[in-house]
Amino acid sequence: MDYSGFKAEVYKLSGIDLNAYKEKQMLRRIDSLISRNAFTGYIDFIDELKINQRLYNDFINYLTINVSEFYRNPGQWEVLEKEILPKLLDKNKNIKIWSSAASTGDEPYTLVMVLNKFLPLDRIKILATDIDKEALAKAKTGVYAERSIKGLPKTYFDKYFQKCGEDSYRVIEDVKRCVEFKQMNLLSDKYPEALDLIVCRNVLIYFTEEAKDSIYKKFNRSLVDDGILFVGSTEQIIGSQKYDFKAIKTFFYQKSKV
Ligand SMILES: C[S@@+](CC[C@H](N)C(=O)[O-])C[C@H]1O[C@@H](n2cnc3c(N)ncnc32)[C@H](O)[C@@H]1O
Repeated sequence: MDYSGFKAEVYKLSGIDLNAYKEKQMLRRIDSLISRNAFTGYIDFIDELKINQRLYNDFINYLTINVSEFYRNPGQWEVLEKEILPKLLDKNKNIKIWSSAASTGDEPYTLVMVLNKFLPLDRIKILATDIDKEALAKAKTGVYAERSIKGLPKTYFDKYFQKCGEDSYRVIEDVKRCVEFKQMNLLSDKYPEALDLIVCRNVLIYFTEEAKDSIYKKFNRSLVDDGILFVGSTEQIIGSQKYDFKAIKTFFYQKSKV
């Protein structure tokens, strides 16, 4: 079986279309996983994936790259707090926010903490989605090791976490209640609508240009006029006007009125 056959099998098993991910990077990761687990090739690896739930979970985890942390790239969160949110909230206090590759929850919970500077917690509702069920399960528990929280300003840490083990900290229930987690594939599922802010960070780097093109268009349709797309630190959109997005700050794009 060659890589094309392998991609077809993975799609049947998981619904993940590897054609949409950059091939060189994916191949390197998959080949290293296969040899690390001492399989001889794609055929016996796929056969084992079909019957071995643990290997399957490890594979999906490995493929989806769940690395995240609270307040990742602090400068961008400061721009969100000081420049983007005040304008959005000026127009509408009930803003709709979607964290679209939420991984283990660090990002949507950070959003709640920053928004809480403007709104009471019982007014905050964030939709957080990811393709990876295991990451979402961890997100729902809301328990993190210190390394996930080390970049978070102390005021947030003191206010929103409780120590619950040697090296584990739990996000308080009032913050957890603000986030609704759902499994969703950015490549194939229907997107939510009438959003004021979409956060999509550190996932588009793994996708091909065609996949990104289609995602930007769908993001644009999902936003209200003047709605904002917040991307990751290496994910600036080249030629954003093509998607009716105006760069208003580095990493922040505003939907243009048509
Ligand atoms: C590196 S993490 C980024 C987490 C967070 N946004 C951040 O910046 O810290 C990438 C996430 O994208 C998710 N992902 C990968 N492919 C996806 C897809 N097709 N649809 C939805 N999520 C996907 C992965 O499961 C993973 O949790």
